[in-house]
Amino acid sequence: MNSQTEIPKELIQTIHEADHVAVLTGAGISAESGVPTFREAQTGLWAKYDPQELATPQAFRRNPKLVWDWYSWRRALIHKAEPNPGHLALAEMAKIVPKLTLITQNVDGLHQRASSQDVIALHGNIMETKCFANGHLLDSWPESDDVPPHCPICNSLLRPNVVWFGENLPAYALQTAVQAAQACDLFLSIGTSALVHPAASLPLMAVENGAATVEINPQETPLTRWMDFVLRGTAGELLPKLLTQLR
Ligand code: OAD
Repeated sequence: MNSQTEIPKELIQTIHEADHVAVLTGAGISAESGVPTFREAQTGLWAKYDPQELATPQAFRRNPKLVWDWYSWRRALIHKAEPNPGHLALAEMAKIVPKLTLITQNVDGLHQRASSQDVIALHGNIMETKCFANGHLLDSWPESDDVPPHCPICNSLLRPNVVWFGENLPAYALQTAVQAAQACDLFLSIGTSALVHPAASLPLMAVENGAATVEINPQETPLTRWMDFVLRGTAGELLPKLLTQLR
Protein backbone atom coordinates (compact mmCIF):
# COMPACT_ATOMS: atom_id res chain seq x y z
CA MET A 1 0.00 0.00 0.00
CA ASN A 2 1.20 3.33 -1.15
CA SER A 3 -0.20 6.36 0.73
CA GLN A 4 0.47 9.79 -0.79
CA THR A 5 -0.87 13.17 -1.68
CA GLU A 6 0.49 13.22 -5.25
CA ILE A 7 -0.70 10.97 -8.07
CA PRO A 8 1.82 8.19 -8.66
CA LYS A 9 2.85 7.46 -12.28
CA GLU A 10 2.10 3.75 -11.74
CA LEU A 11 -1.53 4.64 -11.07
CA ILE A 12 -1.81 6.61 -14.31
CA GLN A 13 -0.37 3.66 -16.18
CA THR A 14 -2.76 1.26 -14.42
CA ILE A 15 -5.73 3.41 -15.47
CA HIS A 16 -4.48 3.56 -19.05
CA GLU A 17 -4.22 -0.22 -19.15
CA ALA A 18 -7.65 -0.85 -17.59
CA ASP A 19 -10.55 -2.08 -19.74
CA HIS A 20 -13.16 -1.62 -17.06
CA VAL A 21 -12.93 0.89 -14.22
CA ALA A 22 -15.50 0.74 -11.41
CA VAL A 23 -15.92 3.70 -9.06
CA LEU A 24 -17.75 3.83 -5.73
CA THR A 25 -18.43 7.26 -4.30
CA GLY A 26 -19.76 8.38 -0.93
CA ALA A 27 -20.78 11.60 0.75
CA GLY A 28 -17.17 12.87 0.72
CA ILE A 29 -17.27 13.60 -3.01
CA SER A 30 -20.13 16.05 -2.44
CA ALA A 31 -18.56 17.71 0.62
CA GLU A 32 -16.89 20.31 -1.59
CA SER A 33 -20.30 21.12 -3.08
CA GLY A 34 -21.45 22.11 0.40
CA VAL A 35 -23.47 18.97 1.16
CA PRO A 36 -22.58 17.78 4.67
CA THR A 37 -21.39 14.17 4.98
CA PHE A 38 -23.22 11.78 7.29
CA ARG A 39 -20.55 11.27 9.87
CA GLU A 40 -19.32 14.84 10.25
CA ALA A 41 -20.90 16.93 12.99
CA GLN A 42 -24.16 18.49 11.85
CA THR A 43 -24.43 22.21 12.22
CA GLY A 44 -27.13 24.72 13.10
CA LEU A 45 -30.66 23.51 13.58
CA TRP A 46 -29.76 19.83 13.25
CA ALA A 47 -26.66 19.80 15.44
CA LYS A 48 -28.28 17.71 18.15
CA TYR A 49 -29.42 14.92 15.82
CA ASP A 50 -27.40 11.99 14.56
CA PRO A 51 -28.24 11.39 10.89
CA GLN A 52 -27.94 7.67 11.46
CA GLU A 53 -30.81 7.94 13.91
CA LEU A 54 -32.97 9.89 11.47
CA ALA A 55 -32.42 7.69 8.43
CA THR A 56 -34.42 4.68 9.62
CA PRO A 57 -38.00 3.40 9.26
CA GLN A 58 -38.21 3.32 13.08
CA ALA A 59 -37.36 7.03 13.31
CA PHE A 60 -40.01 7.79 10.69
CA ARG A 61 -42.64 5.77 12.55
CA ARG A 62 -41.70 7.50 15.80
CA ASN A 63 -41.56 11.04 14.49
CA PRO A 64 -42.41 11.37 10.77
CA LYS A 65 -42.41 15.17 10.88
CA LEU A 66 -38.86 15.30 12.26
CA VAL A 67 -37.56 12.94 9.56
CA TRP A 68 -39.51 14.72 6.78
CA ASP A 69 -38.19 18.10 7.94
CA TRP A 70 -34.60 16.82 8.05
CA TYR A 71 -34.87 15.56 4.49
CA SER A 72 -36.52 18.81 3.38
CA TRP A 73 -33.54 20.67 4.82
CA ARG A 74 -31.07 18.36 3.03
CA ARG A 75 -33.08 18.63 -0.19
CA ALA A 76 -32.91 22.43 -0.04
CA LEU A 77 -29.13 22.31 0.50
CA ILE A 78 -28.71 19.92 -2.41
CA HIS A 79 -30.98 22.02 -4.61
CA LYS A 80 -28.60 24.96 -4.14
CA ALA A 81 -25.45 22.84 -4.56
CA GLU A 82 -23.55 22.44 -7.82
CA PRO A 83 -21.39 19.53 -8.97
CA ASN A 84 -17.77 20.21 -7.99
CA PRO A 85 -14.53 19.50 -9.89
CA GLY A 86 -14.48 15.95 -8.45
CA HIS A 87 -17.87 15.06 -9.97
CA LEU A 88 -16.90 16.72 -13.25
CA ALA A 89 -13.55 14.91 -13.45
CA LEU A 90 -15.27 11.53 -13.07
CA ALA A 91 -17.69 12.38 -15.88
CA GLU A 92 -14.68 13.24 -18.08
CA MET A 93 -12.76 10.14 -17.04
CA ALA A 94 -15.63 8.01 -18.38
CA LYS A 95 -14.84 9.41 -21.85
CA ILE A 96 -11.19 8.36 -21.61
CA VAL A 97 -11.35 4.76 -20.35
CA PRO A 98 -13.03 2.00 -22.41
CA LYS A 99 -15.68 1.37 -19.74
CA LEU A 100 -16.47 3.09 -16.46
CA THR A 101 -19.20 2.01 -14.04
CA LEU A 102 -20.08 4.72 -11.55
CA ILE A 103 -21.71 3.48 -8.36
CA THR A 104 -22.75 6.01 -5.73
CA GLN A 105 -24.15 5.87 -2.23
CA ASN A 106 -25.16 9.51 -2.60
CA VAL A 107 -28.78 10.47 -3.02
CA ASP A 108 -27.99 14.02 -4.17
CA GLY A 109 -27.96 13.47 -7.95
CA LEU A 110 -24.79 15.56 -8.36
CA HIS A 111 -23.03 12.92 -10.51
CA GLN A 112 -26.01 12.91 -12.87
CA ARG A 113 -25.95 16.72 -12.97
CA ALA A 114 -22.23 16.55 -13.79
CA SER A 115 -23.29 14.51 -16.88
CA SER A 116 -22.13 11.10 -15.69
CA GLN A 117 -24.13 8.45 -17.56
CA ASP A 118 -25.83 5.33 -16.17
CA VAL A 119 -25.07 6.17 -12.55
CA ILE A 120 -25.95 3.33 -10.19
CA ALA A 121 -27.63 5.08 -7.25
CA LEU A 122 -27.49 2.40 -4.56
CA HIS A 123 -29.28 4.45 -1.92
CA GLY A 124 -31.95 6.11 -4.08
CA ASN A 125 -32.69 9.72 -4.90
CA ILE A 126 -33.62 12.38 -2.36
CA MET A 127 -35.50 14.43 -4.96
CA GLU A 128 -38.00 11.60 -5.44
CA THR A 129 -40.90 10.91 -3.11
CA LYS A 130 -42.79 7.71 -2.40
CA CYS A 131 -45.28 6.57 0.20
CA PHE A 132 -44.28 4.73 3.32
CA ALA A 133 -46.79 1.88 3.14
CA ASN A 134 -46.70 0.85 -0.52
CA GLY A 135 -43.81 2.66 -2.17
CA HIS A 136 -46.07 4.51 -4.63
CA LEU A 137 -43.71 6.87 -6.47
CA LEU A 138 -45.25 10.32 -6.80
CA ASP A 139 -44.43 13.43 -8.78
CA SER A 140 -47.08 15.49 -7.04
CA TRP A 141 -49.67 15.28 -4.29
CA PRO A 142 -52.57 17.44 -3.15
CA GLU A 143 -51.64 20.58 -1.21
CA SER A 144 -52.24 20.24 2.51
CA ASP A 145 -50.91 21.47 5.83
CA ASP A 146 -49.99 17.93 6.88
CA VAL A 147 -46.28 17.26 7.42
CA PRO A 148 -45.50 14.82 5.91
CA PRO A 149 -48.25 14.93 3.30
CA HIS A 150 -50.34 11.83 2.54
CA CYS A 151 -50.26 9.54 -0.48
CA PRO A 152 -53.18 10.37 -2.81
CA ILE A 153 -53.45 6.65 -3.67
CA CYS A 154 -53.36 4.89 -0.30
CA ASN A 155 -53.33 7.75 2.22
CA SER A 156 -50.12 6.58 3.95
CA LEU A 157 -47.43 9.13 4.78
CA LEU A 158 -44.98 10.32 2.14
CA ARG A 159 -41.22 9.89 2.52
CA PRO A 160 -38.13 10.41 0.36
CA ASN A 161 -37.22 7.65 -2.09
CA VAL A 162 -33.97 6.81 -0.32
CA VAL A 163 -32.72 3.64 1.31
CA TRP A 164 -32.80 3.80 5.10
CA PHE A 165 -30.76 1.72 7.52
CA GLY A 166 -32.33 -1.72 7.77
CA GLU A 167 -33.95 -1.49 4.31
CA ASN A 168 -32.99 -3.42 1.19
CA LEU A 169 -31.10 -1.74 -1.61
CA PRO A 170 -32.82 -1.64 -5.01
CA ALA A 171 -32.14 -5.17 -6.31
CA TYR A 172 -31.17 -4.30 -9.88
CA ALA A 173 -28.81 -1.51 -8.77
CA LEU A 174 -27.07 -3.78 -6.28
CA GLN A 175 -26.77 -6.63 -8.77
CA THR A 176 -25.25 -4.34 -11.42
CA ALA A 177 -22.83 -2.88 -8.88
CA VAL A 178 -21.72 -6.35 -7.73
CA GLN A 179 -21.18 -7.44 -11.33
CA ALA A 180 -19.00 -4.38 -11.96
CA ALA A 181 -16.98 -4.94 -8.77
CA GLN A 182 -16.36 -8.55 -9.80
CA ALA A 183 -15.52 -7.80 -13.43
CA CYS A 184 -13.49 -4.58 -13.28
CA ASP A 185 -9.72 -4.43 -13.46
CA LEU A 186 -9.51 -1.20 -11.47
CA PHE A 187 -11.72 -0.06 -8.57
CA LEU A 188 -11.70 3.43 -7.09
CA SER A 189 -13.30 4.10 -3.71
CA ILE A 190 -13.83 7.83 -3.27
CA GLY A 191 -15.10 9.82 -0.29
CA THR A 192 -16.72 6.98 1.60
CA SER A 193 -16.16 5.94 5.21
CA ALA A 194 -16.76 2.35 4.02
CA LEU A 195 -18.80 1.54 7.10
CA VAL A 196 -22.18 0.85 5.54
CA HIS A 197 -22.75 -2.51 3.85
CA PRO A 198 -23.43 -3.83 1.29
CA ALA A 199 -21.87 -0.81 -0.48
CA ALA A 200 -18.68 -1.11 1.56
CA SER A 201 -18.28 -4.75 0.44
CA LEU A 202 -17.92 -3.75 -3.21
CA PRO A 203 -14.26 -2.65 -3.01
CA LEU A 204 -13.46 -5.87 -1.15
CA MET A 205 -15.08 -7.90 -3.94
CA ALA A 206 -12.80 -6.08 -6.37
CA VAL A 207 -9.80 -6.95 -4.17
CA GLU A 208 -10.83 -10.62 -4.21
CA ASN A 209 -11.24 -10.47 -7.94
CA GLY A 210 -7.63 -9.29 -8.31
CA ALA A 211 -8.47 -5.76 -9.50
CA ALA A 212 -6.11 -2.90 -8.72
CA THR A 213 -7.65 -0.70 -6.02
CA VAL A 214 -7.45 2.97 -5.12
CA GLU A 215 -8.80 4.96 -2.21
CA ILE A 216 -9.24 8.74 -2.35
CA ASN A 217 -10.07 10.13 1.07
CA PRO A 218 -8.42 12.61 3.44
CA GLN A 219 -8.94 10.08 6.27
CA GLU A 220 -8.07 6.47 6.83
CA THR A 221 -10.96 3.97 6.49
CA PRO A 222 -11.38 0.23 7.09
CA LEU A 223 -10.57 -0.22 3.39
CA THR A 224 -7.22 1.53 3.48
CA ARG A 225 -5.17 -1.54 4.32
CA TRP A 226 -6.54 -3.43 1.31
CA MET A 227 -5.84 -0.73 -1.26
CA ASP A 228 -2.97 -0.71 -3.76
CA PHE A 229 -2.96 3.09 -3.94
CA VAL A 230 -4.12 5.46 -1.22
CA LEU A 231 -4.44 9.12 -2.14
CA ARG A 232 -4.78 11.34 0.90
CA GLY A 233 -6.63 14.50 -0.03
CA THR A 234 -9.99 15.68 -1.21
CA ALA A 235 -11.81 14.39 -4.26
CA GLY A 236 -12.22 17.94 -5.58
CA GLU A 237 -8.46 18.42 -5.64
CA LEU A 238 -7.19 14.97 -6.54
CA LEU A 239 -9.62 13.88 -9.27
CA PRO A 240 -8.94 16.89 -11.55
CA LYS A 241 -5.19 16.28 -11.07
CA LEU A 242 -5.69 12.63 -11.97
CA LEU A 243 -7.64 13.65 -15.06
CA THR A 244 -4.95 16.11 -16.18
CA GLN A 245 -2.29 13.43 -15.90
CA LEU A 246 -4.45 10.90 -17.74
CA ARG A 247 -4.70 13.29 -20.65
P1 OAD B 1 -19.76 9.25 5.44
O1 OAD B 1 -20.29 10.55 5.95
O2 OAD B 1 -19.85 8.06 6.32
O3 OAD B 1 -18.23 9.38 5.08
C1 OAD B 1 -17.74 10.44 4.30
C2 OAD B 1 -16.30 10.11 3.97
O4 OAD B 1 -15.84 11.12 3.09
C3 OAD B 1 -15.36 10.11 5.17
O5 OAD B 1 -14.52 8.96 5.10
C4 OAD B 1 -14.53 11.40 4.99
O6 OAD B 1 -13.19 11.25 5.46
C5 OAD B 1 -14.55 11.54 3.49
N1 OAD B 1 -14.42 12.91 2.99
C6 OAD B 1 -14.78 14.07 3.60
N2 OAD B 1 -14.54 15.12 2.80
C7 OAD B 1 -14.01 14.61 1.66
C8 OAD B 1 -13.56 15.19 0.42
N3 OAD B 1 -13.63 16.50 0.21
N4 OAD B 1 -13.07 14.36 -0.54
C9 OAD B 1 -13.02 13.02 -0.33
N5 OAD B 1 -13.44 12.43 0.80
C10 OAD B 1 -13.92 13.21 1.79
O7 OAD B 1 -20.48 8.99 4.05
P2 OAD B 1 -20.72 7.64 3.26
O8 OAD B 1 -19.52 6.76 3.31
O9 OAD B 1 -21.25 8.03 1.94
O10 OAD B 1 -26.68 5.85 3.92
O11 OAD B 1 -21.88 6.99 4.10
C11 OAD B 1 -22.45 5.81 3.62
C12 OAD B 1 -23.90 5.79 3.87
O12 OAD B 1 -24.16 5.95 5.26
C13 OAD B 1 -24.69 6.93 3.24
O13 OAD B 1 -25.07 6.66 1.92
C14 OAD B 1 -25.88 7.01 4.12
C15 OAD B 1 -25.13 6.99 5.42
O14 OAD B 1 -25.77 6.97 6.54
C16 OAD B 1 -27.97 5.90 4.09
O15 OAD B 1 -28.58 6.95 4.27
C17 OAD B 1 -28.59 4.55 4.02
